[in-house]
Amino acid sequence: MTTLVAELSAIAGSAFAAEGLSAGFGQVQPSDRPDLAQFQCNGALAAAKQTRADPRRIAQKIADRLKADPVFARIEIAGPGFINLDVTDAALAVRMGAMAKDATLGAPRSGAGKTAVVDFGGPNVAKPMHVGHLRSAIIGDCLQRLFRANAWTVVSDVHLGDWGLQMGQLIGEIGRRSTAPVYFEAGFEGPYPEESPVTMDDLEEIYPVAAAACKADPGRLEEARRATAELQAGRPGYVALWRHFVEVSESGLRREYASLGIGFDLWNGEASVDPLVGPMIEDLKRRGLAEESDGALVVRVAEPGDKKDMPPLILLKSDGAVLYGTTDLATIVDRVKTCDPDLILYVVDQRQHGHFEQVFRAARKARLNGKAELEHAGFGTMNGADGKPFKTRAGGVMKLYDLIAMTTEEAKKRLAEAGLAKEYPEDERNDIARKVGIAALKFADLSNYRLTDYVFDLARFTRFEGKTGPYLQYAAVRIQSILRKAQAQDMAPAARSILQTPEERALILQLLALPDAMAAAEGKRAPNILCDYAFTLAQIFSRFYSEHHILSEKDAALRAARLGLAGLTLAALTKVLDLLGIEIPQRM
Ligand code: ARG
Repeated sequence: MTTLVAELSAIAGSAFAAEGLSAGFGQVQPSDRPDLAQFQCNGALAAAKQTRADPRRIAQKIADRLKADPVFARIEIAGPGFINLDVTDAALAVRMGAMAKDATLGAPRSGAGKTAVVDFGGPNVAKPMHVGHLRSAIIGDCLQRLFRANAWTVVSDVHLGDWGLQMGQLIGEIGRRSTAPVYFEAGFEGPYPEESPVTMDDLEEIYPVAAAACKADPGRLEEARRATAELQAGRPGYVALWRHFVEVSESGLRREYASLGIGFDLWNGEASVDPLVGPMIEDLKRRGLAEESDGALVVRVAEPGDKKDMPPLILLKSDGAVLYGTTDLATIVDRVKTCDPDLILYVVDQRQHGHFEQVFRAARKARLNGKAELEHAGFGTMNGADGKPFKTRAGGVMKLYDLIAMTTEEAKKRLAEAGLAKEYPEDERNDIARKVGIAALKFADLSNYRLTDYVFDLARFTRFEGKTGPYLQYAAVRIQSILRKAQAQDMAPAARSILQTPEERALILQLLALPDAMAAAEGKRAPNILCDYAFTLAQIFSRFYSEHHILSEKDAALRAARLGLAGLTLAALTKVLDLLGIEIPQRM
């Protein structure tokens, strides 16, 4: 299925071609002034510039050709040479009917036959998740949902941070405390205990202590480095202990992501590719791509035209330990081997842009990336009212669990203020509050362009009016209730063009634009395009609803057609909210 805009662009493109001009001038877009026209084509202006002709004359010639096409109800030249276009109600009705029959609502098939690995989440074992990880989870999940909807085969990977210095820090601290001596015994032959010597709470207590000690005391830092290198070299007691850290952390993380409705296909980590590191390094050395530098092994990635300093990617430190970039490079090797992707998309804080540039360059230089495009989709920070990255009132890192509890509480207050869900059973009320809270959080995050920083403002995010998640949930719930009140058999999108008012047309046009929004959001890796789409759709529906009878409409055919329109609006809204990872309560 092609979209209406694409169809109209093709028609206008042929008209330009017939005039001996490039078909590309035929690009049609929704009108900037919906009160004046439905669509516009600005190509005559560009064509005139190129051929030094009069734009209005070109526009006139194009308009004369377009008149032959029955899809247009009105063709008009405006200003210096814009072509304004309206299509017939019959054309709208046919396309709406086709959309309603398509389970995907006309989703673009831009990813057909292609595989994308989406790397997002990226929490670190034993370290608390911070707001950057939350943003990665929310944006990454939206992108994985969108790519899937657009027919990509998606493999999402949480890429746990489980192989870095924090591991040595934890091992060092536990060693000092002597709480699990068997893991440190030199001659111990195993097996090591199955039960973890530490809980998640222990890890959360131990890590900050260990990190602070390493910061204050270079001796402790050296000890942690050594423990990290020994772990990576395979010292059995350390590996056994490390496995417990990962298992304990992972089960907590799985619970946290699940509470946000976020899932991953793979729970790989930096350590998963450890077996690939050695052979990769040998290969790079053999091909002369890796070289010694100050005792370390590096890949040079600077390029002639570089404006900024591009330090080499360090593969091995002088003590033999691998670094973040080493595991990222080996992970590319692994992904190419296991799923031969067309794209690997990293949804990670923009502050890591330099890191990814180094890794990507090294991968391309060594041709490790197969056919995969490597792309970093970065994002800005969520700030507190003070303009600094969001923290708790006590100044600590806000834990996801507490954040959700806090938003649920706020949502509860808002529901009570709005007199919603008042008489429902307690359980249902709590469930609604949780859904509203998460919608508030996710929508606030996704509705800003991802690279823009934004300020965390719970009171604003949870409002039921304005551009918020809760507003959209409520809009969907309202349509659900209209449709429940109607008889199911009343619903049929009009095959004939009986929907003819400005509000009805505006709603149909917005519905038909859904695939365009999905394609644009994919192209720019920009969930905010979906947020804008959903918000506009809800507003247009609300105008339609306040100007027209639906349930009380006497004319049966008109009533059915309007119910059909409401049904399709609900389907589109539900779909977009699902892409945003937002659930709609049954009622509110
Ligand atoms: N664990 C990293 C961090 O907390 C993020 C990992 C992102 N993904 C990657 N392939 N490097 O900063």
